[in-house]
This record gives sequence, C-alpha cells and structure tokens, in this order.
Amino acid sequence: MVLNITCIPGDGIGPEIVAQAKKVLDKVAAVYGHEMKYTDILMGGASIDVHGVPLTDEAIATAKAADAVLMGSIGGDTTTSPWYKLEPSLRPEAGLLKIRKALNLFANLRPAVLYDELAAACPLKEEISAKGFDMMIMRELTGGLYFGERKTVNENGVRKAIDTLTYDENEIRRIAIKGFDIAMKRNKKVTSVDKANVLDSSRLWRAVVEEVAKDYPEVTYEHMLVDNCAMQLVKDPAQFDVILTENMFGDILSDEASMVTGSIGMLASASLNDTKFGLYEPSHGSAPDIAGKDIANPIATILSAAMMLRYSFDLDKEADAVEAAVKQVLADGYRTGDIWSEGCEKVGCTKMGDLLVERIQ
Ligand code: IPM
Ligand code: MG
Repeated sequence: MVLNITCIPGDGIGPEIVAQAKKVLDKVAAVYGHEMKYTDILMGGASIDVHGVPLTDEAIATAKAADAVLMGSIGGDTTTSPWYKLEPSLRPEAGLLKIRKALNLFANLRPAVLYDELAAACPLKEEISAKGFDMMIMRELTGGLYFGERKTVNENGVRKAIDTLTYDENEIRRIAIKGFDIAMKRNKKVTSVDKANVLDSSRLWRAVVEEVAKDYPEVTYEHMLVDNCAMQLVKDPAQFDVILTENMFGDILSDEASMVTGSIGMLASASLNDTKFGLYEPSHGSAPDIAGKDIANPIATILSAAMMLRYSFDLDKEADAVEAAVKQVLADGYRTGDIWSEGCEKVGCTKMGDLLVERIQ
C-alpha cells in the first residue's frame, strides 16, 4: 500500500521527534511491504519565519491532498520568542487552529494511559495509581470558544474583551456519535462533561448527548460538571473510559489527564474528520527549552504515527507492531530523560528512535 503522508515538523523539538517517527514508519514499510511517501509543509513559527504567516493556503492544499498528516509540534517561548510580538492571528497557534478548521478535524482523540512500567512517574498517591487507568478524552475541536467571534473594544476609556461560545446541535451530535462509537470499541462507558448548571451551550450539549445515547443501549453514560471532572481526574481516574467534551474543557482536561499519567512524553493524539483522514500529533508541546539537544522523547509522536496507521489506513497489524515495540523498549529498560528512573538506561531522542526501529520485526 502507498501511504501519502504530509509531515509538519514544526517548531522546537518538532523536527527531531518527527524524524524518529519517519524512521519507525520506514521500518514498518520495509517489514510489511508498504511505501511511505512524505511531503513536508511548514506550519507555526517555521512558516512565519519563511512566509510571514503561520500557515499558507498552499500548505493547506498539500495537506488536503494527502491521506493523513503527521505533526510534531508548533510554537515557541511565549515570553521571549519574536513570534509572540505579532498580532494574535499571525502567531504560531493560529496555524494549528486554521488547519483544524480547514480540514474539518472536529474530533480530537487524546488517550491518557498509565503505563505499568512508568507507574513510578505517576504523581498520584499509590492507593489511587495502583488501580491503573486508561481513558480516551474526546474533545470537540472546531467549535466553541476557540472559534467564536472575538474582539477587544474601548468603551468610554474602558477596555473590554469579548469571546463568544457557540455550538449548534449538529456540531454536538457528530462528536457525540464519534464518542459513543469509540466507547463501543472500549469499555462502553461515556462521561459527557459540561457546565450545564451555568451555560446554555452546555444544556444543549447535554440534550443532544442524551438523544445520541438512545442509539447506544449498550453504552453506560453519565453527565459530569467540568469542575467536578477536574477533581475526579486526580481523585479516581480509574472511573473513566471515554470523556466526551467541548473544545475548551477538553483542552484543559486533557492536559490535566496527561500530567496525571506522569509521562506526557508518551501520549499520542488524533484529530479526525468524518472520513478516514486525520492529523496525528503528540499531546505535548514544542518544548523550546530542550529543542535541538537530542534529548526529547519521540515516543508520543511515534505512537501518534501508530494511531495514523490504525485510523487512517486500517493497518491494525502494523499499528500493533509499533505499540509492541514501545512496550518492549520500556521493558528492556530504556528511557529518555523525561521518564527516566533509577536503574534504567537514559537515552537520547535519536537513540530511542533506533531502539524502536530494531524492535519492529
Ligand atoms: C492543544 C493546544 C492548542 C489548543 C493551542 C496551541 C492552540 O493547547 O492542542 O491542546 O488549545 O487547542
Ligand atoms: Mg492544549
């Protein structure tokens, strides 16, 4: 099979971790008889430096023409990087929001898993972490507060900023259906998270989720207020299977959930539309402080590439092989600095890529 993949190395550690993911994909191609065709595009700061904008229309067209997009990370240090002196619509993050919208990537899947081998890195009390957890955060990605109208005005000498949060029932229904579909393949439980005690958009969210739930009698579902959910994630994360939520709540809760695993350098993500097309990226950011030092953990990007094989190409065997290689490398005692603990061998980004390549047979 020929896999047409657009790559976005991006900023910070992005280029180093994407290089490792490509190496792993090339090994998969060699072992399983596929052909990888990569086309790189610029996004974020890397695009600003060349084109003055964080994402060009040509880059979007290239991405659209591919079967899937594999991304590293974008953005820089918000206090020191010149990118953040630009007006907001020209900053690195605007490129990411733009590509999500342009490709209609409304469903963001962010798994948060406690790896047995890395349990020591989990910041929770042992009586909580001992139960383990494995949840999928399903975040709506192209609506809500991040895409509503916004402006800053001056009313009689008083500065005033307005952001709008809008959802229509169709936007809610399509992500809810994805959430219940994914739950059917997992432990058949959905926790829909909202702020229905205050927000109209949340009350509509709840109503539509209840309608969708009727089509999934096997799935247990519950509603949870977002503030309570933030608490439950540290109190009893084992209770969750699929967390289904809107854009901003999902942004915040997915960072919390990944921190709770203690190994954010391990967590992948997928952003999907209603076809097989998807954009795959690690859940972590561009870590400008460690960029170019060959010490970043490439595993989240490599696991994102595995999600790509699974969701965009239906190559389950190949995805399993990548995930098994990751488990094996951990079992063999190799760790990048972010997940290192006493008794393990510390390796850099390139070396970790090599070790994974060796373990794909
Ligand atoms: C994320 C990031 C982005 C978001 C930023 C960089 C715009 O935080 O993917 O979670 O908020 O969606
Ligand atoms: Mg975020």
